[in-house]
Amino acid sequence: MRKKLVVGNWKLHGSLLDNQSLINQLKQDLHDLNWVDAAVCLPYVYLFQAQQLLQDSPIAWGAQNVSQFTEGAYTSCISAKMVAEFGCTYTIVGHSERRALKLESNQIASKRLLHALHAGLTPIFCVGETLDERDGGMAEMIVKNQMLNVVYGLDDEAFALAKKFNMVIAYEPVWAIGTGEHATPEQAQRMHAFIRYMVSERDPEFAQQVRILYGGSMSPANAQSLLSMPDIDGGLIGRAALVAEDFVQICRIAEQCHQQKNTPKEPSRSAPVTWA
Ligand code: PGA
Repeated sequence: MRKKLVVGNWKLHGSLLDNQSLINQLKQDLHDLNWVDAAVCLPYVYLFQAQQLLQDSPIAWGAQNVSQFTEGAYTSCISAKMVAEFGCTYTIVGHSERRALKLESNQIASKRLLHALHAGLTPIFCVGETLDERDGGMAEMIVKNQMLNVVYGLDDEAFALAKKFNMVIAYEPVWAIGTGEHATPEQAQRMHAFIRYMVSERDPEFAQQVRILYGGSMSPANAQSLLSMPDIDGGLIGRAALVAEDFVQICRIAEQCHQQKNTPKEPSRSAPVTWA
């Protein structure tokens, strides 16, 4: 049974003072999480603070990206090895906000993914289509292209690292990010099953282990319906991660959903959909 994972993506938010109170609140309210892994991904400059505050807690922390370079004359870049020194477990890679700024093509995202794995981090690799792409019936094709980097772009050594460090995939439809309009549980489930199917083409065993998060306006109001879906293993949470009560509530809902799903199934094999 895959343990659920709830990750806060703080984006460009925070201050030393605000972080301290948010993190302390999370520590207090999430100290007894059993069935869910929780983490926060903060701006680089706060990783030291996160390490100091979270090192004795069950909440993990991570970065929001890592450089496609390991070292050299690359002003302002931060390498995977550097963030690993601050005790990070995770790093987000390929977030659509990075892709939208044209700073991150599929190719660059896969380089970042590789460096994250070599530094011993668990990458949270983001995929997802825009509204135009969905309306044009291309959602699966876009996600497939993004997934190809992960599934077939990694050589055997890198794929072994992806398995070792439990690489995570996040399905984040771009039209749902920060808009308050989330994908329906059925839309998300369909794409999650497709993503799992793609992973199974490379490694059926890993496909059953890999955690696939949903991201895009997940909130306490919709978490239950999304997290009850068989292939949704958690959430990548933006806005709601900045409010301690909301993030805590989503973690609690994830815990309940995990407990309710106590009959192991192999959803992607039984899903009544076919992929051309
Ligand atoms: P949101 O952001 O929850 O505010 O939509 C999610 C994300 O971008 O990871």
